[in-house]
Amino acid sequence: PLPARFTVPLPVPETAVPVRPGQYEIVQRAAKLETIPGTTTEIWGYGGTFPGPTFDLRRGSRTVIRVRNELPVPTSTHLHGGVTPAHSDGYPTDLVVAEGRGFRPHGGDHSPHDLSQWTFHHGARDYAYPLEQRAATLWYHDHRMDFTAPQVWRGLAGFLLVRDDEDDALPLPKGERDLPLMICDRAFEEDGSFRYPSLDPTLLVRPGVRDAFMEGVEGDVILVNGAPWPFLDVDAARYRLRLLNASSARRLQLRLTPGGRFVQIGSDQGLLATPLTHDAITISPGERFDVIADFSDHPAGTEVTMVNTLGVGAARDVMRFRVRRRAPDDSRIPKRLSQVEPAKAAVAVRTFDFRRTGQEGAAAWTINGQRFRPGQPLATPRLNTSEIWRFTSDFHHPVHVHLARFQVLSRNGKPPAPTDAGWKDTVDVRPYEVVDVLARFEGYRGRYLLHCHNLEHEDMAMMADFEVI
Ligand code: C2O
Ligand code: CU
Repeated sequence: PLPARFTVPLPVPETAVPVRPGQYEIVQRAAKLETIPGTTTEIWGYGGTFPGPTFDLRRGSRTVIRVRNELPVPTSTHLHGGVTPAHSDGYPTDLVVAEGRGFRPHGGDHSPHDLSQWTFHHGARDYAYPLEQRAATLWYHDHRMDFTAPQVWRGLAGFLLVRDDEDDALPLPKGERDLPLMICDRAFEEDGSFRYPSLDPTLLVRPGVRDAFMEGVEGDVILVNGAPWPFLDVDAARYRLRLLNASSARRLQLRLTPGGRFVQIGSDQGLLATPLTHDAITISPGERFDVIADFSDHPAGTEVTMVNTLGVGAARDVMRFRVRRRAPDDSRIPKRLSQVEPAKAAVAVRTFDFRRTGQEGAAAWTINGQRFRPGQPLATPRLNTSEIWRFTSDFHHPVHVHLARFQVLSRNGKPPAPTDAGWKDTVDVRPYEVVDVLARFEGYRGRYLLHCHNLEHEDMAMMADFEVI
């Protein structure tokens, strides 16, 4: 039976505490949590929590995070949206293996069988994050070759917030009224353990899911910050909600009911130039929307539900805000938020076609007809240039580019959707759509990834290298 909705308080992840200035240590480990009231769920989490702790960091503050792996499986940690040197970007074959555990390449048919193509760190490794980038809501999650989806499903994900003076100076809601919300669907067995259709539940030998899940795995329970359909008591005031869709495959269309609207102030890569008002926000896996929800006109006692109008049954509900009392609110939404530089001229146009190929039984998700081939880049953009990347598709594919940030130029030759505004790193590409983005390659040379953020598609090889030269 599904748990009762709106009975569990919204958890807010702890803020990570450094061991020394600029240095953090975090252990990936199993933990038993009461996710569904009255049952126990074993999660795999950063710090043994799900979501992991929130790293609250400043732009340009060089940060080193030492990740120790105490899980039975290898891991690779990627900072999604980070402008990160390639060695710390969490490449899928660059793994941390728990102390005392060996590693054998597993049986994926597109992953390298030759041990020399893998890199290992025993016990722990350091990831270096210079964070030379605008304030934005980033998130970190597992990125292990062929097993990203089940490992994130079990809990390996958390927030990393980059703050800067520009964002701090705005009179937006702050402190307890600035909330990261990690929304994801999961499924559970009767006893509370996670249900996921892995071919090999040990996640050691054989990657993949049963054929019926080719399009991706959806769960029937919606979690926000790890709690099923939670509630939050709020003041009659404005709140800044940093929305993240951390689902494997589920797209969400969020609305506030009764009668709320979202004022969007930021996208994946930080502030918009000016605020935009939306009745609904469609958010695909990996995307973030930074929005203001205004409860100030509601009398105490009002219940405002955030719903997902793409969901059926219980998956239509997300969480509930219970307006408790009037309270002072000196926040406001300024008319100008930030400078978003107009796109620079592109020096190249490249097309990436996201498509299912092959027959039933041997079907695969591919980019330009190819399954992921580590070390064989599909593109070689030059550092400090911009390129038009054209994404075409046969299905819903949330396309994510590491390192780069981009602006959506057009959808099917027409202007982009109002929710496409700002600097992004993930774009919801819909069936048979042609989406043009103008991508800016800044920061570092080296090998990076481009992939579908439907995590089952990613694990089924819908990923490619590109090399910044
Ligand atoms: Cu959020 Cu390559 O991933
Ligand atoms: Cu996809």
